[in-house]
Amino acid sequence: MKIIIANWKAYVEDFKSAEKLFGVYKLLSSSKKAAFVVAPPNIFLRDIIKAYKGRLISFASQGVSGSGACTACTSVQQVKDTGVDFVLVGHSEQRARSLTDEQVSATVKDVYNAGMYSVIIVGENNRDEQGGHFKFVRSQLKIALNRYPKNKPLKFIVAYEPVWAVGAKQPPKAHEIEMMMIYIRKILVQLFGDRRGRQVPILYGGSVNAANISAILELQEVSGVLLGRASVDEKALTELYQNIKK
Ligand code: PGA
Repeated sequence: MKIIIANWKAYVEDFKSAEKLFGVYKLLSSSKKAAFVVAPPNIFLRDIIKAYKGRLISFASQGVSGSGACTACTSVQQVKDTGVDFVLVGHSEQRARSLTDEQVSATVKDVYNAGMYSVIIVGENNRDEQGGHFKFVRSQLKIALNRYPKNKPLKFIVAYEPVWAVGAKQPPKAHEIEMMMIYIRKILVQLFGDRRGRQVPILYGGSVNAANISAILELQEVSGVLLGRASVDEKALTELYQNIKK
């Protein structure tokens, strides 16, 4: 089953709206066409998880920022305590606000130690004719995983989100996405060996919508998608879900 991670960002501003939106996920998930991982704002997590009695939807934190003497931060243990299984790490909107590769790497390790899965988000800021974006993504991913404990289960997902396609009009061309997905798979196999490296799901994110979802999900190595805008628009989400082939 394909994975759909729904990153609500800060689009949903009150709990009532969050509950209403989550109702759409409950409805859609009953047809079991894809596995939803819903990432509401951290502040709504505990109440949404508590109110949800089903088993079809998993939950992610959109991210953590620090622990201890860190004003206005949210720690790995705090999101763990809400009941989430996943944490998004390295989203470009966080990187743009000074999150570094080293912090991504430390968080991936902390999330693993806390018994959760990281969704490691990588992606180039822009493209050049020389193909520098492959090198860029390789470096981001290798650093993100450089503290990952050796010979332990691979409890993470990789999401490729070219920054220039996030919140934009359209994603890269299908073959361009596919080339990057195959490249990321190669890196994972190099790092963890053939059998284990092939088990890690790789998602695509950035301008996914009802019109392009089915073509994206058919690409080689694509285990699912990461949604932003479409995840908080009831109509767009429903149409997108309808276009997923079972
Ligand atoms: P978008 O955002 O779907 O609105 O392009 C994707 C993301 O930021 O995860």
